[in-house]
Amino acid sequence: MLSSKGFDLWADDYDKSVGLSDEDGTYPFAGYKAILNEIYNRVLSAPSKNILDIGFGTGTLTTKLYENGCMIYGQDFSDRMIELAQEKMPNAILYQGDFSNGLSEPLLHQKYDSIIATYSLHHLMDQQKVSFIKTLLTQLNEEGCIYIGDVAFETRAELHKCMGEAGDEWDDDEFYFVFDELKGHFPTMRFEKMSSCAGLISLQK
Ligand SMILES: C[S@@+](CC[C@H](N)C(=O)[O-])C[C@H]1O[C@@H](n2cnc3c(N)ncnc32)[C@H](O)[C@@H]1O
Repeated sequence: MLSSKGFDLWADDYDKSVGLSDEDGTYPFAGYKAILNEIYNRVLSAPSKNILDIGFGTGTLTTKLYENGCMIYGQDFSDRMIELAQEKMPNAILYQGDFSNGLSEPLLHQKYDSIIATYSLHHLMDQQKVSFIKTLLTQLNEEGCIYIGDVAFETRAELHKCMGEAGDEWDDDEFYFVFDELKGHFPTMRFEKMSSCAGLISLQK
């Protein structure tokens, strides 16, 4: 599992390496751009635009939302990722903090219309995901929505199929979403398959 320092080192090369894996249609980033586009369109079609991004990285998605007038809040634990994102979004309110310890305290004082987390929450084990997503739900405005785009599968069997195809590329240190195993905790949770290894999970209050 990459530490915050590991992400600091990856930061300057991140956009390029993600783009290459998406274009090849290979694990882990096949479907990446499709997911970001879909979340972008859904967030912008909602009436209000107070956005929280968890693990925003270089700010690829949030920068586009910022340029369209959204108010951006975020949390990430990599200093270099924060630097790169803040350069692109000078007025965004970005906090340094490890989400395995929950939300940074000042972020708990706001409510959000959309909460997004792309390719970040697979760093949490399933029990931690459940507890963190429950916290995120308390921070949503009544009509708000959480969008999680990630390496994700409807069933454990589909995860195993992808694992077999990925071979040595498979990352055993990451805990990918399996919708069937999480939906019992969240009555409003929906799953949309976006590629052989990616899914868009959405939840409302
Ligand atoms: C693979 S990148 C995804 C970045 C961006 N959301 C995207 O879709 O391109 C994962 C991001 O989550 C952050 N991250 C990973 N684990 C974290 C943790 N425990 N607490 C806070 N941020 C974390 C990393 O620093 C990195 O910026």
